[in-house]
Amino acid sequence: MAAFDIGIDLGTTKIIIYRSDSGIALNEPSIVAYSTKDNSVVAVGKEAYAMLGKTPRHIVAERPLKDGVISNHKLCELMIKEYIKRVCGNFFIKPRIVLCIPSVTTDVERRAVVEAALAAGARKVYMIEEPIAAAIGAGVDILKPQGHMIVDIGGGTTDIAVISLSSVVCSRSIKVAGNTIDEEIIKFFMNQYQLSIGQRMAENIKKQVGCVFHPDASHVTSVKGRNLLTGYPQQIEINEETLYECILSCVERIIDSIKLVLEETPPELIGDIYDNGIILTGGGALIKGLAQLISEHVKIPVSVAENPIEVVSIGTGKAFRYIETFHEGFINADTYRH
Ligand SMILES: Nc1ncnc2c1ncn2[C@@H]1O[C@H](COP(=O)(O)OP(=O)(O)OP(=O)(O)O)[C@@H](O)[C@H]1O
Ligand SMILES: [Mg+2]
Repeated sequence: MAAFDIGIDLGTTKIIIYRSDSGIALNEPSIVAYSTKDNSVVAVGKEAYAMLGKTPRHIVAERPLKDGVISNHKLCELMIKEYIKRVCGNFFIKPRIVLCIPSVTTDVERRAVVEAALAAGARKVYMIEEPIAAAIGAGVDILKPQGHMIVDIGGGTTDIAVISLSSVVCSRSIKVAGNTIDEEIIKFFMNQYQLSIGQRMAENIKKQVGCVFHPDASHVTSVKGRNLLTGYPQQIEINEETLYECILSCVERIIDSIKLVLEETPPELIGDIYDNGIILTGGGALIKGLAQLISEHVKIPVSVAENPIEVVSIGTGKAFRYIETFHEGFINADTYRH
């Protein structure tokens, strides 16, 4: 037996690794900085994120996963290998790995990620669907014939799924999530204040004063950027009301998709979802007032999972207890075994 097994949530913005013996072992941005001169890797993770928007011409800081798909295979492989090495160190017995990757990836991409994990030293690699991992992480008994709705609002995609008996019954994935909100915030400042701001500033403002339900004008933060008319740096104060409409328009697209999935859900399962409530996971679930807003629209109780950002990785780590069930075929063809 291996001394420990690991679960990996390979997200668009973050990779989180859970060790069966000690819990969350790594939480790093999915980003790699490399030199265009010789393609050598300059930095991976937090160091590479700090370089975003600040690199000299010959260094590129790139996210290997964009909009929920793997956009650069080579970098993605490199990143996975580096992170597995960091978590596992020099092990005598190779670990088993449960991997969760974005739902819209192709078979070829999934295979490439599995190969990367094997090359990094995994003994066996299993692949699990994100909503199933999220449900396990949130403490749902996935083997029961009980309907649950999981809405994972990540960086690149929002995945809405109804699960029952450890399978996805109906689902939808849209490319409206945390990064979309950041982009809308950048456009908002451009149009309203002629202020050009960077990606990291936009994300920061969203976390500080992003609110979609009863915004409070007394919650303020400052925004720094470059005035497009003067060319000079400028700082302005904003509050929760400033960005309310801007963020709301993105969130309403998510709510529309939730309604569509509810319409496709068999009636018996709708009853269960009404009783169990909708569970929000992913970093986007932390937008202030989101659960209340969704609940008001769909008339179903909505709650945010206890650790919304880590919940998928916790689920991948805990999925080992269901491995035998996977072998019996309860999970669909998305589970890869080696
Ligand atoms: N406190 C917060 N308030 C609002 N948004 C937040 C907060 N914390 C994180 N986020 C946002 O959550 C998003 C990242 O969520 P998460 O880590 O679940 O994504 P991911 O798993 O990497 O992406 P995906 O599931 O799409 O592949 C980012 O857009 C980030 O800005
Ligand atoms: Mg995710």
